[in-house]
Amino acid sequence: MSIGANVLAGLLGGPPWTQPRYRDLADRIARLIADGRIAAGTRLPSERDLAAATDLSRTTIGAAYTTLTERDLLRPRRGAGHFVTERPAPTMSPLLPAAGPDADGRIGLTAAADAALPHVGAAYARALDRLPELTGGSGYFPDGLPELRAALAERYAARGLPTDPRQLLITTGALSALAIVARTLAGPRRALITESVGFGNTLHLLHDVARRSGGRVRSFDTSPAGWNLDSLAAALAETRPAAVFVIADFHNPTGRQMDDTTRAGLAARARRAGVPVVADETLAELALPWAAPALPVAAHDPSAILVGSASKTYWGGLRLGWIRAPHAMIEPLLRARTLADHGAAVEQLVLAELLADPTANPAARERLHRQAVTAMDLVREHLPEFAFRRPDGGQSLWLELPSASSTRLTRRAAEHGVLLTPGPHFFCNPGGERWLRLPFAAPEDAFAEAVRRIARAWQELDRPDAPTRHEGFGPLSA
Ligand SMILES: Cc1ncc(COP(=O)(O)O)c(C=O)c1O
Repeated sequence: MSIGANVLAGLLGGPPWTQPRYRDLADRIARLIADGRIAAGTRLPSERDLAAATDLSRTTIGAAYTTLTERDLLRPRRGAGHFVTERPAPTMSPLLPAAGPDADGRIGLTAAADAALPHVGAAYARALDRLPELTGGSGYFPDGLPELRAALAERYAARGLPTDPRQLLITTGALSALAIVARTLAGPRRALITESVGFGNTLHLLHDVARRSGGRVRSFDTSPAGWNLDSLAAALAETRPAAVFVIADFHNPTGRQMDDTTRAGLAARARRAGVPVVADETLAELALPWAAPALPVAAHDPSAILVGSASKTYWGGLRLGWIRAPHAMIEPLLRARTLADHGAAVEQLVLAELLADPTANPAARERLHRQAVTAMDLVREHLPEFAFRRPDGGQSLWLELPSASSTRLTRRAAEHGVLLTPGPHFFCNPGGERWLRLPFAAPEDAFAEAVRRIARAWQELDRPDAPTRHEGFGPLSA
């Protein structure tokens, strides 16, 4: 099987080419391969023929073919030309691929997480200058660097929640913080109550912790319409609850912010049941401009435990989170945490530097705002059958599909080179096939291309409602 020079030239789309031209050409061919528009095993036109059909030189085409060969997308056969590799070697981790596109033209949207802004690199450089402040000591800070705890306490005070630095414990990311809290609170025949729709990895974690401790997970109704407090009250009354886990700030995946009235209602019900609320504030700093401010959950309920993270505000690679808890909880939490690790010291200096940089957060929010507006426009244009509610914050659109076909759509999208996490991953119980999380914290070109590919995948899907099947929770996304 071969593809003619004029056909390929038509698919490539012609000028203008970006510099260097050979790389632009290589990227365009890689996308056609990822899209399935050039099938595996196809012979590409000779350099001379493609040069005649385009405005590119033979040298440029030769360099592009070499690049694609190095990427393992083409295989040269002596005397016969270049052939599309039968099975391109995967270059992305199946767990957390980058937004890309990668060398194979695939765009990874399984993580709602963006690249670091320059502020992060600059903070690392300043932290390295300060390294001698740390290296003179043992380097162990099991409850966290005092400077960082003080800076975070100030942040809480600025949000309307006076905080003593001794109420803070620095962890290796929010997920690690949630694991420490869940393990500390769980117990035999006790229920961990959580939202019916939430962050998949946390749901997975809670199920795991509950199973190991002889308890169980019980959900209460959460939807894009909000948090159903009657359903929460029923869950509290019908179980022996150990804790209630919520994402009140820019809920992942729905993007909703819990308003202060609902926070007060949540706090009152939990207090009546004598149960602590654990509020995951990982996305709290990712407000979109139209979101109304709300007080931290612990301002409504002093017994609440808050979990924060640097991952979404600054960069996932920082691997820093924290727990803010009542004084009495810190010691058991610290004991649980030191069973696993003691945390990294230099990163804590980096975060302290970032918290002291007044420009870092506004720059991130500005980028997020731009991305959110573009994402909503693109979905309205290319996926008009998909409904969504404008998110209050966070990094995703939570799309409602016209049919129960999320898993099938994500499989088809993968064939078009877009990797997504299907709806059931975000459901505490079986269900979720009508929903799809679309993270938009990605380079704008890559995101726009991803939406166009999803639209093509959607058009190709024959769409009888798929049976709603529980796919189980896997550590698939962020
Ligand atoms: C709501 C929520 N909680 C926790 C996490 C995990 O955060 P971290 O990278 O700090 O472990 C994420 C990451 O996507 C998240 O969205």
